[in-house]
Amino acid sequence: MRKILMYTVRPDEHPAIRAWARKNGYQVDTNTEPMTADTAELAKGYDGVVVQQHAPMNDPEIFKKLKSYGMKQYTTRTTGYENINVKAAEENGLTVTNVPAYSPRSVSELVLAHVMWLVRHMGIVTAREAHGDFSWGGVEAKEIHTMTVGIIGAGKIGSAVARIFRALGSNVIANDPIHRPELNDTVTYVDKKTLFATADIVTCHTPLTPETEHMINKDTLKSMKKSAFLINCSRGQVVDTGALVDALNNKEIAGAAIDTFEGEEKIVQNDLSGKPLNNDNLEKLLAMPNVNVSPHVGFYTEVAVENMVDIALDDVATILDGKKSLHEVHALTKGN
Ligand SMILES: NC(=O)c1ccc[n+]([C@@H]2O[C@H](COP(=O)([O-])OP(=O)(O)OC[C@H]3O[C@@H](n4cnc5c(N)ncnc54)[C@H](O)[C@@H]3O)[C@@H](O)[C@H]2O)c1
Repeated sequence: MRKILMYTVRPDEHPAIRAWARKNGYQVDTNTEPMTADTAELAKGYDGVVVQQHAPMNDPEIFKKLKSYGMKQYTTRTTGYENINVKAAEENGLTVTNVPAYSPRSVSELVLAHVMWLVRHMGIVTAREAHGDFSWGGVEAKEIHTMTVGIIGAGKIGSAVARIFRALGSNVIANDPIHRPELNDTVTYVDKKTLFATADIVTCHTPLTPETEHMINKDTLKSMKKSAFLINCSRGQVVDTGALVDALNNKEIAGAAIDTFEGEEKIVQNDLSGKPLNNDNLEKLLAMPNVNVSPHVGFYTEVAVENMVDIALDDVATILDGKKSLHEVHALTKGN
């Protein structure tokens, strides 16, 4: 029986892993270790490996060791692979695969939750009620079908967001260098200037690139409507958090919801109850009743977790069978 070792496994992944192993006749073992040059040794005696971590896996020693154990592939059950030294993996004969789309609906439904929370001023009423104030001042809301939703980056997730808000009757505009014909009856493509000036909700769904780093900054926030809400469920660095805090304090926008934020690596997935966050901007945002922060849970649904496990393990089996995975990734730049 073929054996696969999965690294950094969370308890919620076990049911899907057990089901896949049973269905496919594999032995799949798990650990909670990150992949490092030291822990690579745990893979000795296995036919395949699957990893999942934010920390870098760039030490060529990892891939040299895996090659010496006869490994043929290196599969991450995440979309992002910028933390993997793909070049070193390829030099050691390992095919690298990722999971390019596990459930665009997962993130888009969180966007919907954040948007409705903001539009109906839920944070403001809840904060008031906490001290016995049940008044109505300032919480008259717009209805979503009267609003314009502006999507920056209408790819897999942005398209799913567009379809949800179009179905709710909103006017949906999008900015993306790629115009997708399948969105023709859903979005109107506009330039960024128009999007910032006209959207009641600006929601970011681009990858993090040199161009999108701090795409939401002092100037773009100033160019938004004072009544507008900002959503970021993409990558933390897409928004300049300090500029967002200032814009909210100066009432340049009406509110914000973020699932990703600068400095989240030290915070997300940890219970920091009673401990300092050591992140001033995050603490300021958490104290604002018109801001909602979620701990990078956009992807975290039952469907998405199952897909991440199944797609990754299917790819290992495909490669071990000598076939070509549809999810191969290659080194694009030196060192990656
Ligand atoms: N919150 C979460 O849990 C979670 C989960 C999965 C993905 N993400 C993040 O969501 C984002 C979108 O993921 P996706 O799978 O939809 O990616 P995708 O590649 O399918 O789509 C991204 C789109 O952004 C466009 N784009 C790139 N640069 C742009 C720019 N400067 N201006 C406007 N558009 C630009 C691209 O053309 C593409 O259409 C990524 O940042 C990803 O890391 C977050």
